[in-house]
Amino acid sequence: MERISTEIARVSFRNPVFLASGIWGESGLSLARAYKDGAGAVITKSIGPVPREGYPNPTVVELGDWGLINAMGLPNPGIESYKEEIAIARKGGAAVIGSLFGANPEEFAAIAKAMEESGAVSLELNLSCPHAKGLGSEIGQDPKALSEVISAVKKSVRIPVWAKLTPNTHDVAALAEAAAKAGADAVAAINTVRAMAIDSKAMRPILAHGLGGMSGPAVKPIGLACVWQIYERVKIPIVGIGGIATGEDAFEYILAGASAVEVGTALAQKGAGLFREVCNGLDAQLKEHGFSNLKEAVGAAQCPLCPPCKGSRRKGIASAHGA
Ligand code: SIN
Repeated sequence: MERISTEIARVSFRNPVFLASGIWGESGLSLARAYKDGAGAVITKSIGPVPREGYPNPTVVELGDWGLINAMGLPNPGIESYKEEIAIARKGGAAVIGSLFGANPEEFAAIAKAMEESGAVSLELNLSCPHAKGLGSEIGQDPKALSEVISAVKKSVRIPVWAKLTPNTHDVAALAEAAAKAGADAVAAINTVRAMAIDSKAMRPILAHGLGGMSGPAVKPIGLACVWQIYERVKIPIVGIGGIATGEDAFEYILAGASAVEVGTALAQKGAGLFREVCNGLDAQLKEHGFSNLKEAVGAAQCPLCPPCKGSRRKGIASAHGA
């Protein structure tokens, strides 16, 4: 499917529909399986410096058509043992993006290096988990702390570095701008939206941790707005995340300014056939709207094809972004 192949920071991908972090990323075999099932790339679980158990159950609340709230607490086996899983996924043919978190720039840099050595083709820095003490968005909401992490990682690896941003901020584009200035090659937006559920009978939060992060259909409008605002402010590529379950959802993110998308929550309901379904749907949307490739459509909604400019402003916007 030539029309939907994409490129994020010098790395080419066969299609722009990626497996999001935290879904099926426990093992190299499950990552390789998602790639065989049609994902354009697979993003690992977020991996930290040492093994971490995460929060006690319950860690997930299902909210029907809205999506779900999770608070896993970044459980992972630590980079030392996870390196092997990346190598297995690579051997299985997958384009692997390593997702990682740390408490400081040094931890991020060390994990990044290990992931690069294991074969990751790019890295996604988790600067956005909405509820882990001293980690994730506690770092990523502060442009200075976010920049320090990105600079340190950029010094330790040669592969492209994406910053995964939080929507739990008053100005997501400012975070993207800080990331780009610090050397990030791309940004991914959004991580989950801070949320919670209360059991009125028990008069207690449902999640053991209390606060969690919302994902699924309800957050798509928030993700789209963040991608839109980021596209207006920075020129590095954007990977769109949040509530994507159809080709049309993916097309909307592309029109807002994304060059690829990640799917996560919808996989739980629809299964692995979702990758091909979203790719086919996106391809059909591009064709229907007269785009000969995905790049032409990136950010196209930023300038409607209105009679006064006949799309010339749109071409200007696209070329300012390197199209
Ligand atoms: C979790 O492990 O609780 C979720 C991770 C994230 O939201 O980044």
